[in-house]
Amino acid sequence: MSSNELIRHFLTQQIELGGSSVVLPRAPGTEVDAESEPRAGAVAGAEAPAREEERTESWTAPDGRVVRGSAERVELAKLFYEEGSCTRCALGASRTRFVFGTGVPDATVVLVGEAPGAAEDRQGLPFVGPAGKLLDELLAGVGLDRASNVFICNVLKCRPPGNRDPLPEEVELCSPILRRQLEILKPSLIVTLGRFAAQALLRSDAPMGAMRRKIHSYGEIPLIATYHPAYLLRNRQAIAEVEADLIEAAKLIGGEGG
Ligand code: URA
Repeated sequence: MSSNELIRHFLTQQIELGGSSVVLPRAPGTEVDAESEPRAGAVAGAEAPAREEERTESWTAPDGRVVRGSAERVELAKLFYEEGSCTRCALGASRTRFVFGTGVPDATVVLVGEAPGAAEDRQGLPFVGPAGKLLDELLAGVGLDRASNVFICNVLKCRPPGNRDPLPEEVELCSPILRRQLEILKPSLIVTLGRFAAQALLRSDAPMGAMRRKIHSYGEIPLIATYHPAYLLRNRQAIAEVEADLIEAAKLIGGEGG
């Protein structure tokens, strides 16, 4: 994918997420007005906090395009632009699309999954298959959604062939992108989905059962670990446990269920 296509893809995602005034530039130097962002912190029942991110910044990409919006939006665009052609590991050659992440730049909660699957690889967006549909339903139950107050991404940004487990070296090579995303997003809470994401962020080899029902920390950010939605599709009885974890998550951020 060319750099032009990359930034266009990123900005298109932002429009899909509700940034309706984002204008896709046609010519180098055309401004991208990303001022109209979805509301932040809009966990149901909670007053949206005053947003520092309302300050507008701008960045001129190497191809002359100008991205305007909150500092977080501009930094995410820069990161996407820098990393979207990544070939640090072999997955860079086999992927269809680099799956950066989706959601609002002023997310209250960042959800981290494992790696893109087939649907995600085709569309360039995380959690768009059946597991993603279930995830969206569970998030809606506690007033969270990708268009208002969450950002969703994965440890790996490219699909492992045949959906095999990520290799330790792939996690190692891809982790700086996730770390930078979290540095930019500065969420109030991180929720990991499945064993890989929890182990990668907590630098632990503990099994899932030992990581659930605790409040961990990633630097200064609280982190809770829950089951992966794909596991829930195979084990419907565990849905109630994830619902309980998400209620805990909502309590932590002072939203619904708190
Ligand atoms: N599973 C994941 O871990 N991430 C996705 O984006 C899709 C399925």
